[in-house]
Amino acid sequence: MKRRQILTVGAVTAATSLAAGGAASAAPPGNAGPPGNAGPPGNGERTPPGLAKKDDLAWAAGGEIEIGSAVAGGGHHASQPYPPPFTDDETYRELLGQEFTSLSAENQMKWSFLRPERDTYAFAAADAIMDFARRHGQVVRGHTLLWHSQNPAWLEEGEFGPEELRTILKDHIDTVVGRYAGHIQQWDVANEIFTEDGALRESENIWIRELGPGIIADAFRWAHAADPQARLYVNDYNVEGVNAKSDAYYALVQDLLADGVPVHGFSTQGHLSIRYGFPGGLVENLERFADLGLETAITELDVRMDLPDGAEPTEEQLAKQADYYWRMTEGALAAVGCTSLTLWGFVDTYSWVPVTFEGQGAATVMWEDYTRKSAYYAVQDALAQASGRAGHPALRR
Ligand code: G3I
Repeated sequence: MKRRQILTVGAVTAATSLAAGGAASAAPPGNAGPPGNAGPPGNGERTPPGLAKKDDLAWAAGGEIEIGSAVAGGGHHASQPYPPPFTDDETYRELLGQEFTSLSAENQMKWSFLRPERDTYAFAAADAIMDFARRHGQVVRGHTLLWHSQNPAWLEEGEFGPEELRTILKDHIDTVVGRYAGHIQQWDVANEIFTEDGALRESENIWIRELGPGIIADAFRWAHAADPQARLYVNDYNVEGVNAKSDAYYALVQDLLADGVPVHGFSTQGHLSIRYGFPGGLVENLERFADLGLETAITELDVRMDLPDGAEPTEEQLAKQADYYWRMTEGALAAVGCTSLTLWGFVDTYSWVPVTFEGQGAATVMWEDYTRKSAYYAVQDALAQASGRAGHPALRR
């Protein structure tokens, strides 16, 4: 399905917590079944949710690539003045099921969420995502197993000895990866393990600090043993192009492969800002990993902009944002070996950006009322060009 040609740039118009569940319980839900993209074609800009059935992103992708979204919940949502999106927002759920072929747990599979206590696994929210994906014929990306951030206090402050810490990590991977074995397409095993300079985050990352860099290989081996079908990834931000950080991953992956470690994928998150230039060398970077035999992915795409004092986005900002979305989608489609493109949320209401970056926002492809931005159509255009659906009457707008 993956082709070598680079697509031509299309015209982009300037148009415009879940609460942690209970302890581990019954068997995990799986995912299988037909995609749910039947129905009448949608139309036009600002299509009301519910009408757009045949011009959605999943349909435009036409099987060329997985098009995904993070499932909003946990993390910053826990402190925001809205009900939990995934359980309480029906429009959100409808679009999540309709627009995407892949889902990622935004926070619900992180340590802080899954492991409120050392002896407690809170699987309810993650199970709900798996069940939703199964019912909608979607694949799932698991996120994440070995990270320096969002670890529970009992772990970070536990002062465990090396043997005990190693046992804690192995048990976690065995239990979590094992629970969803056969139903997770890709796992972010090692997340954000390098600094911008390409140095391992030795002091920040509890696992590397206490157990040494060799723990990275062990995590991959344990994950592979727990689910031999899952594709196992290293995942980070600011590694779209060739730079010191992506070079560090390139060297690490070669070492891991030479040692027979089951690492299968390299992914760049894609948290971009129009304040900065578009990162160059995306396809070149992804393809050098493909040349090592890895698959690749873009896992957390969003494109934020400066909105000081609550300003509305300008037409220029929206056009530039759309262009960035277009180029990332086009890059994912052009890069041999790139399997999926995931948006880190699709509606501004639930984006992590304004919570983290004061005076910035509007980073997703839909306005708060779920109407579509130019950025949405940019992704749609690029997908439709690749799948041969460009020009289809259902895409009129
Ligand atoms: O840890 C504090 C806690 O002490 C405090 O009581 C609570 C108050 O609300 O906040 C807690 O921190 C929050 C954290 O999630 C853990 O719940 C942060 O404020 C909140 O901003 C954070 O949000 C998540 C963030 O990861 C954590 O790093 C976001 O929802 C989530 O979208 C974001 O996702 C990450 C990916 O996993 C990895 N790549 C970058 C991406 C964006 O940061």
